[in-house]
Amino acid sequence: MSPMKKSLSLVLGVFAATLVLSGCSRQEAPEEPQVEEPQVEASPAAEPSVDTMSPQEERHELMEGVKDAAQVVGPMLQGKADFDAEAAMDALNVWADVGRKFGDLFPEGTETGYDTEAAPAIWEDREGFNAALKEWQDATAAAIAASPQSLDDARAVIGPAFETCKNCHDDYRIEKED
Ligand code: HEC
Repeated sequence: MSPMKKSLSLVLGVFAATLVLSGCSRQEAPEEPQVEEPQVEASPAAEPSVDTMSPQEERHELMEGVKDAAQVVGPMLQGKADFDAEAAMDALNVWADVGRKFGDLFPEGTETGYDTEAAPAIWEDREGFNAALKEWQDATAAAIAASPQSLDDARAVIGPAFETCKNCHDDYRIEKED
């Protein structure tokens, strides 16, 4: 297979995987006070309210935003949605934003709870996890720097970023059935 075809088929595979994901069922911690806050419009880039969330919930929320962004850009790369350079950049910026925060959300003591899908390998091999995170950050930053204006360009630079999702999930995420 040509490198382009290979990378595209990976993109499609990763994207297909994101489609079958059922959101993980979150259990609210009963002891947590419900703070009254102005409702912010739900958007992939919306900041979770860090004060009231456990790291497990926050990393779940952030990955949900990553998924929403992937569901914008995935169909474009598949040719199922019109290519929209601005929307693609918005999605990449969500990934970059989460990429900056994600690594801090795995402190000791958050290995379990809230139906987390984080694998024990994150705590057993933090260097490997950090390296997988950096690959995603670097691929995303490169795609943003390239600012793709055509579908072909987008496939060439966003495809590799999609691959880094799967690389990390293979080792550091346990996908739950429901
Ligand atoms: C550095 C590792 C890493 C990278 C890179 C990464 N993820 Fe994740 N992802 C995780 C981990 C760990 C979880 C489980 C989080 C938890 O439950 O605490 C997860 C969870 C998810 C979930 C399930 C959300 C939920 O909790 O219900 C989706 C969807 C997801 N990732 C999509 C993506 C996509 C799409 C990309 C790439 C654009 C990506 N991820 C990149 C590590 C990563």
